[in-house]
Amino acid sequence: MYEVEKIRAEFPILEQRVYGKPLVYLDNGATAQKPRRVIERVAELYRSENANIHRGVHYLSERCTMLYEEARAVVAEALGTPDAGEVIFTAGATAAINTVAYSFSERFLGEGDNVVVSEMEHHSNIVPWQMACQRKGASLRVLPFDDEGALRLELLDELLDERTKVVAITQASNTLGTMPNLSAVVAKAHAVGAVVVVDGCQGFVHSEVNVRELDCDFYAFSSHKLYGPNGVGVLYGKRHLLEAMPPFLGGGDMVKKVTFDHTTYADVPLKFEAGTANYIDAIGLAEAIRFLRELDRAEVLAHEKALLDYATEELSKIEGLRIYGTTADKCSIVSFNVEGVHNFDLGSVLDRSGVAIRTGAHCADPVMAHYGVQGMARASFALYNTFEEVDALVAGVRKAVRMLK
Ligand code: ALA
Repeated sequence: MYEVEKIRAEFPILEQRVYGKPLVYLDNGATAQKPRRVIERVAELYRSENANIHRGVHYLSERCTMLYEEARAVVAEALGTPDAGEVIFTAGATAAINTVAYSFSERFLGEGDNVVVSEMEHHSNIVPWQMACQRKGASLRVLPFDDEGALRLELLDELLDERTKVVAITQASNTLGTMPNLSAVVAKAHAVGAVVVVDGCQGFVHSEVNVRELDCDFYAFSSHKLYGPNGVGVLYGKRHLLEAMPPFLGGGDMVKKVTFDHTTYADVPLKFEAGTANYIDAIGLAEAIRFLRELDRAEVLAHEKALLDYATEELSKIEGLRIYGTTADKCSIVSFNVEGVHNFDLGSVLDRSGVAIRTGAHCADPVMAHYGVQGMARASFALYNTFEEVDALVAGVRKAVRMLK
């Protein structure tokens, strides 16, 4: 029995009312709320434990260093790698993808090569590759999806060739909810010698992940969507690739020895962690992972799926409403438009009912272009959402349609 009220009680922000209505927070795809223990862990670090890591011989510095490296081990275990050195802390998922796009391309991408991305990627898994291709004289190829939101994997063979160096793909579309068959992508990409970079921002929240079993080469995710603090993310990379790649940013902590003639770099992962790392929020991320580990993951995922199914069923009853992304195997994200109603207006009316959803292009212009729309309304469900909140969403949409149509 999934005890959603007990879980909700862990999230103080959910207790509030907006415009006199109970807050119904359905914008989890943009950022998830934080459980009390994460908030308190971060506050406690600032209150009594803070000192810069890897730089001091004093008590607090050594303690924070130990906690930071412990956080790295917690993340490694959650990702399924026994080698914590394959886990790099970054400023977020965008920084993680930019790191691999820059550093991998510097070493391995050349004139006439190509990079394959899917049509359903978030901008953060398109633009860094476009920039890398421009810098290196490579070309960008696009794997399309069909109108249901399923990736057209049967076209992948035509796109891949011996000049393909990278396949960059999402684990779960932030707009359509689609979760592509990554194992199939990895097998096809590896067959031509390309590496696979997975954007796990939405996928890590809504499914089990084991990077070793999946055999992807790089995997990026952000803490703030996983109930952890903002401002920190993770890049997983296979050790031999990380070791072969040049650093992305230069500065303190990523070096062994600096002279004006020559600098030697630190070993991975520190080679990719220039400057003062966001150790406080990395330790906070580990606390979020511990919180998730104490829950029954299968129950959480079943609850999210039940919310998605219920929302899909109820929203589909509204005349003129179209849902984008209708594949069977999708995560708990539902994007939609109502004919004759602008998604911003829909979002504003819902807001006045206390319901927070996302509107606009969701940092996925190519998805909008596919359907010929400017934007969409999107509800994304988290482990603390309830069926009553889905009712509030549906009632709010009905109200908006009555007012605006
Ligand atoms: N990428 C985030 C979203 O999908 C911000 O809303």
